[in-house]
Amino acid sequence: MALLKIARMGHPILLARAEPVADPRDASIRTLIDDMIETMHDARGAGLAAPQVHVGLRLFVYRVPEERSAGPEDPPLPVQALINPVITPIGDAMASRVEGCLSIPGLRGAVPRHARVHYAGLDRDGSPVEGEASGFLATVLQHENDHLDGILYLMRMTDLSRLGFEEEIARFGIPT
Ligand code: NI
Repeated sequence: MALLKIARMGHPILLARAEPVADPRDASIRTLIDDMIETMHDARGAGLAAPQVHVGLRLFVYRVPEERSAGPEDPPLPVQALINPVITPIGDAMASRVEGCLSIPGLRGAVPRHARVHYAGLDRDGSPVEGEASGFLATVLQHENDHLDGILYLMRMTDLSRLGFEEEIARFGIPT
């Protein structure tokens, strides 16, 4: 396994639309996923999308850390992979959650997103998976899926007063 270099905001690949994975069972895809998992853990992230490691393909890895779990409907989740994902909102409810991004180090901001989504795609083995998500899981799925469409969380923020550096937010919290 290998640590991959993470593209930071300003790199054009982060604004590009990624291409579907043609052969989800190809060994190179599995290697990429394993390297992305190692890179995400090393950077202490909760999600990482292929464009963030300079690969313009529609796949990402994610997890729900214990401290981010929002209750029994949003349990902690070990790392998962989703290839060629399709994320669909369920209902109209929105929820704001504080997000960060490994491509935008140091910053965190409150981002309104769909409170509940349906997700479908293929897992690391290329087998179909689907389900419904709320809480942090819904947030991370939408955040990572946005990376595949060239959208960064800052572009989803509606109130930039709720953006700040993580050390200050750890001290003072996010303005409400
Ligand atoms: Ni991100």
